[in-house]
Amino acid sequence: MSSHPSITSLQGISFETLAREFDTPLYVYDAETISRQIQRLRASFENIRIKYAAKALTNRSILRFMKLQGVGVDVVSIQEAQLALLAGHLPADIMFTPNCVDFEEIVQGVELGLTMNLDNLPVLEKFGARYGGDVPCVIRLNPDILAGGNYKISTGHSQSKFGISVHSLDEIRTLVSRYQLNLEGLHIHTGSEITDIDVFMKMADILFGLAKEFSSVRYLDFGGGLKVAYQPGDGATDVAELGRRLSMAFRDFKDRESRELQLWMEPGKFLVSDAGFLLVRTNVVKVTPKATFVGVNSGLNHLIRPMMYDAYHTITNVSNPLGPKKNYWVVGNVCETDTFAADRELTEVREGDLLIIHNAGAYGYSMASNYNSRFRPAEVLIIDGQARLIRQRDTLDQLLAGQIDIFQ
Ligand code: LLP
Repeated sequence: MSSHPSITSLQGISFETLAREFDTPLYVYDAETISRQIQRLRASFENIRIKYAAKALTNRSILRFMKLQGVGVDVVSIQEAQLALLAGHLPADIMFTPNCVDFEEIVQGVELGLTMNLDNLPVLEKFGARYGGDVPCVIRLNPDILAGGNYKISTGHSQSKFGISVHSLDEIRTLVSRYQLNLEGLHIHTGSEITDIDVFMKMADILFGLAKEFSSVRYLDFGGGLKVAYQPGDGATDVAELGRRLSMAFRDFKDRESRELQLWMEPGKFLVSDAGFLLVRTNVVKVTPKATFVGVNSGLNHLIRPMMYDAYHTITNVSNPLGPKKNYWVVGNVCETDTFAADRELTEVREGDLLIIHNAGAYGYSMASNYNSRFRPAEVLIIDGQARLIRQRDTLDQLLAGQIDIFQ
């Protein structure tokens, strides 16, 4: 497993070499890990169509890599769609799942030829009135299930803004029939970091139930939400078991109904979380009467997950792997409390030591910002044994781009 705490290199290239060649802070992704995760999914299901949830990591080389692996894309904005198109994805392989957008963005999605996933009744109504059955569509359901790692990343409960409630099936039926909608798929994304396989089985019940009513439905999309382990011993979705149970349910449905039905999933974290590392350098070791702080050259501007979700990310000191163990607060250099790890045991950290933060592939760079006017890191992809720069570190020119000095 690439995110094992003792890892010191990727495809034979040491983290220290990468830090020296590309400088820090640096995001590094391992293409082999991404491929392996894709293979794991494919091997676990009898037949699965994978759409990568682009928001997890949107670099165009990553999107292109997914295309080369035969994986489609799930996007949530027109801009993500444009990036996916630039990366070579065909419109038909792009699922567009916008939420609370202006209808104009839906129209743009249709014009680009994307697969349109509609997540509220007013939009379904407008879509029907404008396109009738001419443009196929998908309905995103809110299953009224609370699931996922924490409330902020749960999207399927009754107070979540996402999806059309399963309690509004009558309204859905009315709109589908009034406008003769060409409903080709049904979709549920219940949240992120779901380990309970029964949640997916409950989703299957809802989706199968509705698929029976609508003979035009060709596929059921179970969203993303597969959990990976963020530290040794941490729970993870048992993908083999999930694949076995869902595949069996699909086979039963198809036999019973004598009908073809595809199974789609759109994982983000599962495909790229383990593959990514944030490499940071220790600027200062600061001892106070209560705690020892390791201040690194990064912060919540580069990886917000610990502060935003109290997420645990394994951190290792690759410069001193055999040093004595001590407890530290690993913090960033942003003028906010930006704690990467609280009271964490690490091998002794000295000024200049290189630390690597694990599981930084998903929602790391894609949620990064220029807060404090600091540069976002560079990104490197390790592929075929080579380290390839896939995004340059920001520059001052980039920070200034678009700004207008009205006093000049
Ligand atoms: N499909 C849809 C419609 C989604 O909204 C998402 C994620 C996914 C798929 C992929 O979910 P995943 O497989 O990555 O769990 N920033 C948070 C996660 C937010 C997920 C938002 N939607 C985090 O860093 O934990």
